[in-house]
Amino acid sequence: MAEAPLALDIKALSKRFGKLEAVSDLSLHVSCGEIYAFLGPNGAGKTTTIKSVVGLLQPEAGAITVYGHKVEPDALGFRRSLGYVADRPFLYDKLTAWEYLEFLAGVHKLKGWEEGAGRYLELFKLTPWRHQLIEGFSHGMRQKLVLTGALIHVPKLLLVDEPMVGLDPRSVRDVKDLFGRLAAEGMGLFLSTHSLEMASQVAHRIGILNHGKLVAEGTFAELQDMARRPGSTLEEVFLRLTEEEDGPAAGAAASAGTP
Ligand SMILES: Nc1ncnc2c1ncn2[C@@H]1O[C@H](COP(=O)(O)OP(=O)(O)O)[C@@H](O)[C@H]1O
Ligand SMILES: [Mg+2]
Repeated sequence: MAEAPLALDIKALSKRFGKLEAVSDLSLHVSCGEIYAFLGPNGAGKTTTIKSVVGLLQPEAGAITVYGHKVEPDALGFRRSLGYVADRPFLYDKLTAWEYLEFLAGVHKLKGWEEGAGRYLELFKLTPWRHQLIEGFSHGMRQKLVLTGALIHVPKLLLVDEPMVGLDPRSVRDVKDLFGRLAAEGMGLFLSTHSLEMASQVAHRIGILNHGKLVAEGTFAELQDMARRPGSTLEEVFLRLTEEEDGPAAGAAASAGTP
């Protein structure tokens, strides 16, 4: 059997805004069935990376493929293979939840999507609200509806920018469980997050971005090792690898093992 393509493959991606290099020579991949947590402080370049993957930004350099489809302007293949939840998702306030999903199903020209969508609404306790206007929805309800919409066409890669912001603890648990199930079914998940707890609990691999550069990547155990602090928490590893100080770059310091 032919080897399945990677859910996401980013090679030497660079994106600048004027003089600022927001993402710099970034390479990483996400396999099918893998949850990759993309960690980094505010302004590290996480959203810029995700927007480049979904085709909303034009990078200056690099090559990106989604499930074997090249990301390039006007291409459709990669769009069909990905689901995307933005950090500040856009929703049509004057639609009901179900109308919003019907609209997306129309965009994707889907048939037989209702059952799957209904299951997500049920999981997210949104079923009683499905015929209510979105304008009355809380931030958390919107997040869950947008997530449902991003999954409606069963993508090979799901990109979620800050998935847990605004969710109550029960919803956080539901979303974490869902991510685990989607990965077990073969989807690749790329999650940008501030939540170190979530990264350490659900991710198979973690990448830490700082000033547009990947300063560390690996399993949680490998990152602990890189920071030369076996047994340390992810918070300690993260803070150490993204230290703001003069002198050698945090990544170089970490790999050289300076105390
Ligand atoms: N449209 C834009 N125009 C100019 N600068 C931008 C734009 N978008 C992001 N930036 C800058 O690029 C850097 C990376 O931003 P971003 O990708 O949003 O980081 P993160 O999502 O990790 O917080 C920041 O310094 C931010 O101010
Ligand atoms: Mg961001």
